[in-house]
Amino acid sequence: MKKAKTIALIAGFGFFLLAVFVQSLLPYFMKQYLTVRTDVTKTVRTPLGILGQVKSHAAPYSPLVEKGRQVFIREGCWYCHSQYTRPVAGEERRWGPLPEVGEYAYDLPHLLSTRRIGPDLFRVGGKYGDDWHAAHHFDPRMVVPDSIMPKFTWLFKKEGDRFVFNEDGKALLAYIQNLGMNKGKWRDDFPYQIAAEGSAPAYTTPASVAHGKEVYLRRCVGCHGEKGDGKGAAPTAVLFTVATPRDFTVGSFKFRTTPSGELPLDSDLYRTITVGIRGAAMPPWFNLPEEDRWDVIHYIKTFYPDFATRPPVQPIYIPPPPDPTPEMIRQGKETFEELKCWECHGHEGRGDGPKSDTQVDDFGNKIPPADFTKGIFKSGPRPQDVYRTFMTGLNGTPMPSNSDAVQYKNLDPWPVAYYVLSLSADKP
Ligand code: HEC
Ligand code: HEC
Ligand code: HEC
Repeated sequence: MKKAKTIALIAGFGFFLLAVFVQSLLPYFMKQYLTVRTDVTKTVRTPLGILGQVKSHAAPYSPLVEKGRQVFIREGCWYCHSQYTRPVAGEERRWGPLPEVGEYAYDLPHLLSTRRIGPDLFRVGGKYGDDWHAAHHFDPRMVVPDSIMPKFTWLFKKEGDRFVFNEDGKALLAYIQNLGMNKGKWRDDFPYQIAAEGSAPAYTTPASVAHGKEVYLRRCVGCHGEKGDGKGAAPTAVLFTVATPRDFTVGSFKFRTTPSGELPLDSDLYRTITVGIRGAAMPPWFNLPEEDRWDVIHYIKTFYPDFATRPPVQPIYIPPPPDPTPEMIRQGKETFEELKCWECHGHEGRGDGPKSDTQVDDFGNKIPPADFTKGIFKSGPRPQDVYRTFMTGLNGTPMPSNSDAVQYKNLDPWPVAYYVLSLSADKP
């Protein structure tokens, strides 16, 4: 018995010392032989406006992002949030592609973390708009009623009658939006978020509306409000800088396959809800069961009674997109100039055209024309999405429909769609 104890004791110490040697001393002595790998495959937008993959390198943190990382550490966010997506349990569907070694190159100390009280944050950059993060950090339960994440109100200051991020908050935001971005524009190509068409719409029944209301009260009410008027708790407390939540009672919807001024089809709302509105506070809901998504549509339509009485209109037909060519991009630029898109969007597409400062939406709010060079597309990142916006316009905003021009001038919309996308091409 005594002998066994001695053996266990020596073995215990032995393995402990071995671990110390292998994990800390050996790497220290081998430092000059070790190289830090920074390689990562990156999704980029090509000069033809399509997505491609290139071999690239992880970027070191900017001073602002590094400051945000320090705030992340100080606030103990890592206690609840890991930073590694695993190839199990559908994590790739929920959070995005798996990590590559190179992506951790500048993470010293690493923040892999071991606990998952909240979702993994490795790929959260670009999933939500800045306004969503503001509302969510100010009071998570405003936007996710059953959240157990604490409030971080000390990361805010008051501006007018609402709250905005203070310096620490802005740095933290920059850090969160940078997470997972060494992989570039992967989200524009993320099948689970993008594949929004194809499933058959469900019928409206009293039961589907009642269930839709439950979904609405759990997921949407914090922004769109109990009356559907866009005056939820979140935009009342926190300043939304990109766009205020849609008021469903006026029946004006931006993203439609239906002609200008018309109501959207259910399938249009389904696509918007699934994909989200990139850059704005409206999150993507691709993780919500399909039935929840259809039923919440049935419910939000009750805020505008015309949905029930107006007969549905014919949507535009969007043919399958052709492969782009340099000649098409050139032609697209010609159309862009001819139709005076530059008056609002600027000749380089930076949203700085001569008329850009004076644009207002139907509710009297200033609305800047989209800056295409940012590569964050509200209406969606696919050529079909730009085609649709070009043809039907965005109701309630100065963005006009061009379907008449297409008809009378016999124009092809594809070149201009690819041209708009090509303006956000990554520099080699
Ligand atoms: C006590 C645990 C806890 C702490 C501490 C915490 N969170 Fe969370 N967080 C959660 C939970 C639970 C959720 C999921 C519910 C929700 O979205 O609010 C979440 C959600 C999130 C999300 C959304 C992720 C997604 O994919 O939907 C982000 C971003 C986030 N937290 C960032 C932070 C940051 C930044 C901090 C530190 C300032 C922090 N969290 C601190 C528990 C926590
Ligand atoms: C964090 C705030 C927030 C939450 C939560 C939210 N939305 Fe939104 N939603 C917005 C904002 C902001 C806009 C307007 C964006 C714009 O106009 O650019 C919007 C716009 C919309 C639109 C209008 C699309 C169009 O074509 O004009 C629909 C439909 C919509 N939301 C549905 C929902 C549904 C359904 C839910 C719940 C499942 C939800 N939203 C949850 C902020 C939110
Ligand atoms: C009178 C001003 C005006 C003109 C002219 C105009 N736009 Fe726009 N456009 C806007 C505004 C404002 C928005 C932003 C709407 C929003 O944020 O909801 C916009 C948005 C867009 C978007 C959506 C971008 C995104 O984030 O998904 C596309 C695509 C677009 N415009 C293409 C064009 C093209 C192509 C032309 C020329 C045929 C054109 N626009 C002409 C004002 C204009």
